[in-house]
Amino acid sequence: MDSASRPKLFDFHGVSMINIFTDNWEAIQNFQARPDDILIGTYPKAGTTWVSYVLDLLYFGQMSPERLNTLPIHERVPFLEATYQNMDLEYTGTGLADKLPTSPRLIKTHLPVQFVPKSFWEQNCRMVYVARNAKDNVVSYFHFERMTFAQPEPGDWNSYLQKFLAGKLAFGSWYDHVNGWWKKKQTYSNLHYMFYEDLAEDTGREIDKLCSFLGLSPSAEEKARVMSEVKFDNMKNNVMTNYSTNPYMDFKISSFMRKGKVGDWKNHFTVAQNEEFDKDFKKKMKDSAPQFRTEIGNQITANQTVFI
Ligand code: A3P
Repeated sequence: MDSASRPKLFDFHGVSMINIFTDNWEAIQNFQARPDDILIGTYPKAGTTWVSYVLDLLYFGQMSPERLNTLPIHERVPFLEATYQNMDLEYTGTGLADKLPTSPRLIKTHLPVQFVPKSFWEQNCRMVYVARNAKDNVVSYFHFERMTFAQPEPGDWNSYLQKFLAGKLAFGSWYDHVNGWWKKKQTYSNLHYMFYEDLAEDTGREIDKLCSFLGLSPSAEEKARVMSEVKFDNMKNNVMTNYSTNPYMDFKISSFMRKGKVGDWKNHFTVAQNEEFDKDFKKKMKDSAPQFRTEIGNQITANQTVFI
């Protein structure tokens, strides 16, 4: 796969998808979850890798340094629905999960809640869902699609924003995704719903909440180590977490670990785009929906020059 053969979106049971996430559908739907599996759910670009690494370190950070130094995060935390069978890569998330030598298994998915294989519910697995405010989420997704040939061609920023509003991106509508998982949380108690913005504001506090959900009690020293390892700059410089070995990504266009900020949308949205977005947001998000913050104290707050 290269820039000329990017995948096309199609409607899949009412959700926009691309074939690398549906080709293995039977195996995905028949996937046998185990009771101690932990499913990490997100809309793409909401902080999946960040939370995956936090959980990986909490569970396996004390294992051999060799594991930490040689096994990329996408091999430690299989991407359930992904099927890459091109170039040098032969990867199915289900196959990798079946072969994982560590337990509990940490498994990542971008599936909307209604597509999650039924065995995860039957086994009452714990799930961690990470949501990110829509404005930063769409900006991050835009830059990701620019640099990732395994994703559809993004087009220019304005048309990309329109596609996001219409839910015409892989994994469908952000609005349906965050709301669908939020609604599930009301009836399924083994779901911890967290926000990228909270993690950025106070990583230690959010790790404590995760530990209490998972029944973990790391020592102060261990927690400090995890907090240091998962800092943006450290993950950006770590070849095991920065995706620099991924053959589908062109880091000359953009980085996987790009900015890691709350509020970068202010560098992208024009005043008119922002007004249209807010109006549409109010229509789609009911009062009972999760509450998002598009800025926090210690991040990008000033309105900066729009560069696209
Ligand atoms: P940006 O493109 O805004 O920089 P995912 O892992 O779901 O694909 O999400 C990727 C987004 O999370 C990117 O956002 C990336 O920089 C950000 N991210 C990853 N690790 C992070 C960290 N340790 N701190 C802050 N942001 C992080």
